[in-house]
Amino acid sequence: MNEQQRKEASQIKQSNPSDVKNDSESNLERLKQMGSDELIGKYFQTTYEPPNLKKAKKRLKKDVDIHYDFSISEEMQTIGEGKKFLIRTYGCQMNEHDTEVMAGLLTDMGYQTTDDVNQADVILLNTCAIRENAENKVFGEIGHLKPLKLENPDLIIGVCGCMSQEEAVVNRILKKHPFIDMIFGTHNIHRLPSLLKEAMFSKEMVVEVWSKEGDIIENLPKVRKGRIKGWVNIMYGCDKFCTYCIVPYTRGKERSRLPEDVIQEVRHLAAQGYQEVTLLGQNVNAYGKDLEFEYGLGDLMDELRKIDIPRIRFTTSHPRDFDDRLIEVLAKGGNLLDHIHLPVQSGSSDILRVMARRYTRESYLELVRKIREAMPNATLTTDIIVGFPNETDEQFEETMSLVREVGFESAYTFIYSPREGTPAARWEDNIPMEVKKERLQRLNALVNEQAKQAMQQYEGEIVKVLVEGESKKDPDVLSGYTERNKLVNFRASKSLIGKLVDVKITKAKTWSLDGELAKETAEVL
Ligand code: 5AD
Ligand code: SF4
Repeated sequence: MNEQQRKEASQIKQSNPSDVKNDSESNLERLKQMGSDELIGKYFQTTYEPPNLKKAKKRLKKDVDIHYDFSISEEMQTIGEGKKFLIRTYGCQMNEHDTEVMAGLLTDMGYQTTDDVNQADVILLNTCAIRENAENKVFGEIGHLKPLKLENPDLIIGVCGCMSQEEAVVNRILKKHPFIDMIFGTHNIHRLPSLLKEAMFSKEMVVEVWSKEGDIIENLPKVRKGRIKGWVNIMYGCDKFCTYCIVPYTRGKERSRLPEDVIQEVRHLAAQGYQEVTLLGQNVNAYGKDLEFEYGLGDLMDELRKIDIPRIRFTTSHPRDFDDRLIEVLAKGGNLLDHIHLPVQSGSSDILRVMARRYTRESYLELVRKIREAMPNATLTTDIIVGFPNETDEQFEETMSLVREVGFESAYTFIYSPREGTPAARWEDNIPMEVKKERLQRLNALVNEQAKQAMQQYEGEIVKVLVEGESKKDPDVLSGYTERNKLVNFRASKSLIGKLVDVKITKAKTWSLDGELAKETAEVL
């Protein structure tokens, strides 16, 4: 961390004046006393600057540095020996991947993983702020963890991820859940070893949330969840500032990894036998815009398709930045898959305008036309929000008609949830909940119908499936995804896990396909 970052780091050091011994016993006493605002005021001194959404909106492109020299201090490299950690992950794939990095850091400190909260010495909640219900889940979980902390004062509980970047959340934890040992933001994951050390040895609550967006730290360790599919970040942050969305504030400004670093990571995964890579970013189509040379997602994909790895996906796209160069490269096919997730959010140009999406219904449809022309077999999926402030019945009907017109085969659909600090949260959330729910139901019924229809075309067809493992419902059944992201279940030997095989589809359901190993494949095996 450089001096500037050190200055900008918002840190809290809370000290309990009566806690001079700093041992488990006095810590327990401290915990027992917690619970009311009055006590917190009395026992804790707060000297920190909270995360600041206004500051987070400032975009200072030039001061992002890329670091290749990360290391864990010697004293922390063995701190976790004989101890265990558990990370609960909420939200998107970006968070899942951040969890892989934190697991890598903890493993390099000697910790082992556990699924059992009672065995854990460190518990981290990697949180999501995208909608209110995501936050409620986390607060519920925090409540559940309190008795564990009372039983075992040496347990370290940390809250990280997007919620930690929100001032209101940090304040609520400080007031209502002071048994939490550390809070850190999305930009300072690499500081985990140091923060853990502080939390352990000082027995103070440590909060470190930088409003300044993070630099790029290249050589962080990772413990990946699987051996078949891997995630690779290509960029961080988002500069789009859609009016409903908290992400640009919690994840900071757009910053791209250098192409050579991305390519090297994908090559490395290929060499390790990974079969599929998903490139990650909040708005992957903006990849390269902040680089000092002309380079975009299309250029990157054109390089990556030459790597000997069977499948490359990317998520998530923004229609505004989806350019012709990318379409041209995707059309080359090969390991670039025929599935595009293209969040539309609404089918009404007026709603799109107030959402600040910077495209219209017409320009979205034009983009879809271009994609279909270049990639006739492409599957399109999307994200949609219903019940945005002032959304009329007619505007919602425009969303329904757009879903039909594009023929989305699947969609993540959401009821609008006001997020404090975003422009839309200042507007009256004036669509009654019954109306929002009814719209969501109708939309889901339509999406289901289209999903089912799309599945039917596969009956009798042979598809390529990347076998991921046993099906969730039946361990005797294997499951995996097709190139166009359809879930396939079939019975075959477990030795096929991790392989790409041909499967003949025998039955189409709404969200999955049943099949059997294609004759030729079965014979070869
Ligand atoms: N309310 C509801 N849905 C939201 N999303 C983002 N912000 C909100 C919000 N405030 C949805 C968008 C986005 C997806 C990841 O979450 O559809 O594409
Ligand atoms: Fe949020 Fe819009 Fe950025 Fe997506 S593009 S992360 S919806 S602000």
